[in-house]
Amino acid sequence: MSHAASLPETLPGHPHIARRGASLMIESLPASELAQRFGTPLYVYSRAGIEQAARAYSDAARGRPLALRYAVKANSSLAVLQLLARQGWGFDVVSGGELGRVLAAGGDAARVVFSGVGKTRDEIAAALRAGVQCLNVESLSELERVDRVAGELGLVAPVSLRINPDVDPRTHPYISTGLRNNKFGIAQTQARQAYARCAGLANLRVLGIDVHIGSQITQIGPYLDALDRVLELVHDIERDGITLHHLDLGGGLGIRYADETPPSPGEWIDALYERLQSRGQGHRQVLLEPGRSVVGNAGVLLCRVLTLKDTLERHFAVVDAAMNDLMRPALYEAWQRIEPAQARDGGHSRRYDVVGPVCESGDWLGRDRLLDLREDDVLAILSAGAYGMAMASNYNTRGRAAEVLVDGEQAHLIRERESLDDLLRGERMLAP
Ligand code: LLP
Repeated sequence: MSHAASLPETLPGHPHIARRGASLMIESLPASELAQRFGTPLYVYSRAGIEQAARAYSDAARGRPLALRYAVKANSSLAVLQLLARQGWGFDVVSGGELGRVLAAGGDAARVVFSGVGKTRDEIAAALRAGVQCLNVESLSELERVDRVAGELGLVAPVSLRINPDVDPRTHPYISTGLRNNKFGIAQTQARQAYARCAGLANLRVLGIDVHIGSQITQIGPYLDALDRVLELVHDIERDGITLHHLDLGGGLGIRYADETPPSPGEWIDALYERLQSRGQGHRQVLLEPGRSVVGNAGVLLCRVLTLKDTLERHFAVVDAAMNDLMRPALYEAWQRIEPAQARDGGHSRRYDVVGPVCESGDWLGRDRLLDLREDDVLAILSAGAYGMAMASNYNTRGRAAEVLVDGEQAHLIRERESLDDLLRGERMLAP
C-alpha cells in the first residue's frame, strides 16, 4: 500500500472526511462499509461537517443584527433541515414544496423567507397562511398578485423586493443571477417605482430589500459591489419616505471543489459589516441565505464500479451512479473530486472517464481521472452535499439514491432508496 500511504490524510476543505491508511472515512466510519451496508449509489453526510459549517456562520453572526436563512434548495432532506432548525436557523424557500418540508422538519415559519422568480397563487396563499417572515418579490406584476391574494385571505403580506444589481459574480453563467440579462429581480432603475407602488397597495407591508447575485462565488468583491448598489437604493427609497427593516444579501458563498480558496463565512460577514459601517449603516438588520457552503463539503456520493471498459480512445469506468443522481457534471461541466473508498498501490493507475449507465454521452461524473480500479470497487464523489440529491431525478426510471447521516460511529438512514413501487405510484394506465 505504498501509494495509499502517500494519499492526503485530510482533504482540504472537507473536515470530517479523511483517509485513515487506505480507507476513506466519513467521521469514524469507512466509506466502503457504508456502501456495503446501505448499497450504492448512496449519499452520505457528516453531521459534524454540517454543524461545523453552520457554526462558522452562527459564530460570525453573534453580537450582530444578522439572521441566517439556510437556502433549502441546496439540500432539502428533512434530517438536514431538522439539524439546522435545531440550531436556530431560519430558511429560504423557493416553492410551496420547500415550505412544506421546512414546516415538516420543525422549522419556524416566522423565520422563513420565500424567494423565487415565479410563485403561484397557491404558493403565495400557503406562505401567507403559514405566517412567513416575508415574500421576496421579483416583479411589479408579482407585487400586484401578492397584494390580491393577501386581500382575498384578509391578511397583510410582508414583502421585500428583490433587486437585480447588475453585478458580475464571476462564476459559471448558469449560476449567475444578478446580471441585468438574468431573469431575476427588479431592475435598479425600476426599484423606486416598485417601492412607491407598494405604498398604494393596501394588503402589503414593506419589510426590506433583497439581492442574490449568484452561486459558488469565491471572491468578496462582487458582494461588496452588490452591497454598494443596495445601499444607494436604500438611501433613495428611504428618502422617498419608505422604511426598510432589513437587507437580505442572499447566499452564494463558494466551497472548495478543487483548489478554490473561497473566503470563510466569517470573512464574508466581516467584510459586509465593515462596508456597512463605513457607510454609517452598521446597525442594519441583515439576512443571509447560504446553501452550498453549509452542506456542500459535508457530503459524498458513493457508487460502485460496474464495468471497466477500454475503447479505442479511452478507458471508461462505468459506475452505478449517474447524471440522474448527480447532475452537476452533466449540467455545468462541474469538477468534483473522486476518491477510491479503499486505495490501492497505484501500480495499475490509468486515466479513466467515470461515467454512469444513463443513455447519454453527457452522463459523466468525472473525466480523465488517474485511478487504480477494479470492478466492484467503491468510489466516493466528494463535495456532493449540496445540489446533489436535491437535483436528482428519475430519468431512465432510476430510483433515487438512499441517504445516510453519519454521526461519529453511528450511521442513520435518513432516506430510503426509491423502489419501483415508489416510481410507479400515482401513474394510471388507460382503461382496456
Ligand atoms: N438565495 C437565492 C435567492 C438563490 O437563488 C440561491 C441559489 C441561494 C440563496 C443559495 O445559494 P448558495 O449559497 O447555495 O450558493 N445548482 C447549482 C446552484 C444553483 C444556485 C441557485 N440559487 C449548482 O449545483 O452549482
